[in-house]
Amino acid sequence: MLRKTYAKIDGEKLTKNIKEIKQKYNDYTYYIGVVKNNAYHHGIKCITDFIEGGINYLAISSLEEALEIRKYNRTIPILCLEPIDLEYIDDCVNNEVTITVESIEYLEKLLQINIYSTLKIHLKIDSGMHRLGFMKKEEIKKAKEEIDASKNLQLEGIYSHFATSGVMDKEWDNQIEKFLEITSLINLKEIPIVHFGRSLTLVNHEKIPFCNGIRLGIIMYGYSQSKKEGSDFKSKLKIWKRKRFQKKYHCSKTILENDLKLEEAFSLYSTTMSIRKVNKEEKVGYNSYLLKEDGYIITIPIGYADGVTTSFQNVYIKDQAYPIVSDSMDMIMVFSKDYIEIGEKVEIIGPNQSMKKLVGKTKKNAYHLLNDISNRVVRIHERKQEKEEIYY
Ligand SMILES: Cc1ncc(COP(=O)(O)O)c(C=O)c1O
Repeated sequence: MLRKTYAKIDGEKLTKNIKEIKQKYNDYTYYIGVVKNNAYHHGIKCITDFIEGGINYLAISSLEEALEIRKYNRTIPILCLEPIDLEYIDDCVNNEVTITVESIEYLEKLLQINIYSTLKIHLKIDSGMHRLGFMKKEEIKKAKEEIDASKNLQLEGIYSHFATSGVMDKEWDNQIEKFLEITSLINLKEIPIVHFGRSLTLVNHEKIPFCNGIRLGIIMYGYSQSKKEGSDFKSKLKIWKRKRFQKKYHCSKTILENDLKLEEAFSLYSTTMSIRKVNKEEKVGYNSYLLKEDGYIITIPIGYADGVTTSFQNVYIKDQAYPIVSDSMDMIMVFSKDYIEIGEKVEIIGPNQSMKKLVGKTKKNAYHLLNDISNRVVRIHERKQEKEEIYY
């Protein structure tokens, strides 16, 4: 590691998160770990931690990502959530990648290809998101019949994706109804894996009776929606309003409280690189931050190109908060009243500044904040005594 800026990924925490989820929600057969976008920017090596915790299927969004997984694991089933260009179907067969078939047109073209061995398929239903998926029950019936009659295609699964959060949500139940309507001409029980929900569905709703699989994304990485309702007047009013909403719109029950104990596995560090003495009323950085008192400016080699801006507000050095007064592409500057040695460890995301806190400060969600931490930041994947530096 040449530039002293790195993300630390705690593999044991990832494994523990999966065990905790599986212990509390144990009525699924298939726990499908969504590891697209380089495992939500934690690095694909994390699949080993997830599998150890009990994830038994993985989902990604491109063949490239599937092939990256195969460097670590040859056997775990992998579902590609986006349709794969038909010219690469042989690569899917060779690497045992399950494909998504999301339209009858795609299937007809697939049937023209001479496939030499088994290719597993999951059919995708458009239950309201209008991004991908079958919209007509007659087409799903036809698709099932054609796949069943084919020699090397195997219909292993069927799924959809919620477009909405499911909390105080009139649309949520409609999406389930739509799914059931589009699949009404086939027997769902004949399809081995039926999956619909994502992290929020798991914690906010009772299990969907016809599903035996759940796709877990953000929750696996430790970002829970864990809540405990208070007993004060405001909380009671909120609960009452929610119940009234449910009754008024005949929505299915939403569960907002859970006691999942998850831990964020991603932390981000850098190092103090330069220090200079500055005086009150001097200006700092591109935005000419006006100093209110005498002190020191400490420059840290992490910037907006790495995903860190003044919106983070603080960094921590030896557990003490220092304000970020300026940012640039590659560096941020923080103010300190006291001198700080060069080479000190700087925490940007970690025990003092959790992602939860950053979501509040930046008004971005955890998906976007994680995605913003660019691939230029080396990931150090740690598990017990093992440490691996991963560069992209
Ligand atoms: C099709 C699909 N399933 C599951 C997920 C996982 O969602 P979450 O991270 O909210 O669990 C995603 C995330 O983008 C997705 O696109």
